[in-house]
Amino acid sequence: MDLYEYQARDVFEKYGVPVLPGIIADTPEEVRAAAEQLGGVVVVKAQVKIGGRGKAGGVKVAKTPDEAEEAAKAILGLDIKGHVVKRVMVAGGARIAEEYYFSVLLDRANRSYLSLTSFEGGMEIEQLAVEKPEALARIEVDPNTGLDLDQAKAIAVAAKFPAEIVDKVAPVFVKLYEVYTGEDATLVEVNPLVLTEEGDIIALDGKVSLDENAEFRHPMHAELEDAAAADPLEAKAKAQDLNYVKLDGEVGIIGNGAGLVMSTLDVVAYAGEAHGGVKPANFLDIGGGASAEVMANGLDVILGDPQVKAVFVNVFGGITACDAVAKGIVGALAELGSTANKPLVVRLDGNNVEEGRRILNEANHPLVTLAATMDEGAAKAAELANAA
Ligand SMILES: Nc1ncnc2c1ncn2[C@@H]1O[C@H](COP(=O)(O)OP(=O)(O)OP(=O)(O)O)[C@@H](O)[C@H]1O
Ligand SMILES: [Mg+2]
Repeated sequence: MDLYEYQARDVFEKYGVPVLPGIIADTPEEVRAAAEQLGGVVVVKAQVKIGGRGKAGGVKVAKTPDEAEEAAKAILGLDIKGHVVKRVMVAGGARIAEEYYFSVLLDRANRSYLSLTSFEGGMEIEQLAVEKPEALARIEVDPNTGLDLDQAKAIAVAAKFPAEIVDKVAPVFVKLYEVYTGEDATLVEVNPLVLTEEGDIIALDGKVSLDENAEFRHPMHAELEDAAAADPLEAKAKAQDLNYVKLDGEVGIIGNGAGLVMSTLDVVAYAGEAHGGVKPANFLDIGGGASAEVMANGLDVILGDPQVKAVFVNVFGGITACDAVAKGIVGALAELGSTANKPLVVRLDGNNVEEGRRILNEANHPLVTLAATMDEGAAKAAELANAA
């Protein structure tokens, strides 16, 4: 789970990472009040879980409460790469002398942690890694020993920080590492970490991803979850433990196994090119045990998406054989009754496929079309979505 910047700021503060005051606000009036409360120069910052807010016009400096209110009017409602801004943070304004970069993240390939540090901030890290790889210090942090002050200093030196700054940033690196382990994060990133004109080190922007597998150790994390701001369909799917991601197209997708669903998305997108450019409407992996109940829950979520015009069910029978899946589909349609009102293309293959197809043929549901192959099913679903 990714945190909003303001949530990351709060977590940083709790661990003693130096941050500026920040007040969240949902309306221009609240922004004005927050700017008045903070006094002086403030920065109005879009709270969306996507990078590149500054470039998209989502970060604005305001010298007066009037300017802050104007900035809020421009930022609230702004669409940043598909994320509409519903909330901003009004932050104290820093007088920046220098911008740095620091992150610590889970390095799965090496079964370890990795710190990325650069004396040259202000640039996007992906760009820096490509254009100036020598300016980025990549240093392993052993999870067993952690990051102490000595290694933090070594990291700063490796990242070419001058000696007097090394002593200032190293304790902040240690605190950020404490955030990382203390909260069971998979990423803690500060871009930029700044040196102010006054000589202080401050984390001006924070990205924190939490490991959901560790949720049981952090009852507080549930509160950070933003059910209201999440897509309502995603929230509904989550409540039913479904692996669902809302996309932007017209063909609803249900499959079993993440790999199969991913390739189904590709095949549908490709088939859509010949059918009015329709695209997949979602990712939904119903996993191994594709019971009637899970199928019904999945269909219910997908049919609740007004953009969906047709659904493609693509299941490979394994441990849960095709006959069980077919019964699941028939059961789900019966359970949903008139809620099921969009054409369904079903492709079954694998264990007990004959029996599965027989069950679906026998049920002879008016909305269901059987497809023999994945390509055929994708084409049929795209055609039906385009015709609707
Ligand atoms: N509180 C602040 N005071 C002064 N300047 C700020 C403040 N916050 C951000 N800035 C300036 O705005 C730039 C962009 O801010 P920030 O890093 O928060 O957003 P971003 O990088 O565009 O967004 P993201 O990190 O989501 O890609 C910073 O590099 C910094 O120069
Ligand atoms: Mg940033």
